[in-house]
Amino acid sequence: MQNAHNLGRMTHPSKRAVTAVIVVAAGSGERLGYGMPKAQVPLGGETILMHALRGVVASDVARQVCVAVPQGDTALRALIAEFTVDLVDGGPEISVVDGGSTRADSVRAALAALEDGTEFVLVHDAARALAPERVFERVAEALAAGAKAVIPTMPVVDTIKTVAGTDGADALIAPELVTGTAPREELRAVQTPQGFELATLLRAHEAAGLFDGKQAAAVTDDAMLVELLGVPVHAVRGASQSLKITTPLDLIIAEGLLEGPLGIRWVEG
Ligand code: C5P
Repeated sequence: MQNAHNLGRMTHPSKRAVTAVIVVAAGSGERLGYGMPKAQVPLGGETILMHALRGVVASDVARQVCVAVPQGDTALRALIAEFTVDLVDGGPEISVVDGGSTRADSVRAALAALEDGTEFVLVHDAARALAPERVFERVAEALAAGAKAVIPTMPVVDTIKTVAGTDGADALIAPELVTGTAPREELRAVQTPQGFELATLLRAHEAAGLFDGKQAAAVTDDAMLVELLGVPVHAVRGASQSLKITTPLDLIIAEGLLEGPLGIRWVEG
């Protein structure tokens, strides 16, 4: 029979390696139109950031969680401090850094604040506030199995085409002309948390530090920096509730997921 000492919460196997989670929450949230940082926007009676942090902690993959908040922010820092006080013993260390002017700058600021001895890091958008624990676990498990980089993805339902701007006579008809159709079965929509061997992600961000303004603006996730190093990036299944809350419609969908009859944990695929 199990004795009383063994009845506590079991540590997830992938936590045996020292893993940190970076939560980037330093975006302005302009497209949401609330006039405040997106992470501070209310969702189901809490803020977007609190939902994101609760998911990270519930997944139990991290020894440290480092949150990048907008420079000069005090409101999010206060919420994080309150959240930290409420954490049960054995929960992760929570630290906060000032983010930068781009997402990649925010990631770099958080990377610089990770504890010595960290082996793996998961980078997560606070805007994907409802990402389920199972996705964090799948990513951590792939790292534990030997991946240097792993991302959660979803199949694409729309047909995706490439386009170019038009000029001359074409411009009188329509603003863009189709240049090709990507084969849908090979396409995936990419989510977070994205997981990396820390040394690999540090190397990728160091290389990105040499980018010019145009190249830097084209960086939309961490995995693409690792791809540029030629390191294989593995893909695991994401989840539809990991949607990135960007527009007012996304917020309505996220509210709907939280209010659903079976609750958000019901949606897996
Ligand atoms: O703007 P975008 O949709 O790419 O933002 C994705 C995530 O990156 C959001 O969680 C946002 O808070 C974060 N971000 C950041 N620092 C920035 C820009 C975005 O932490 N300068």
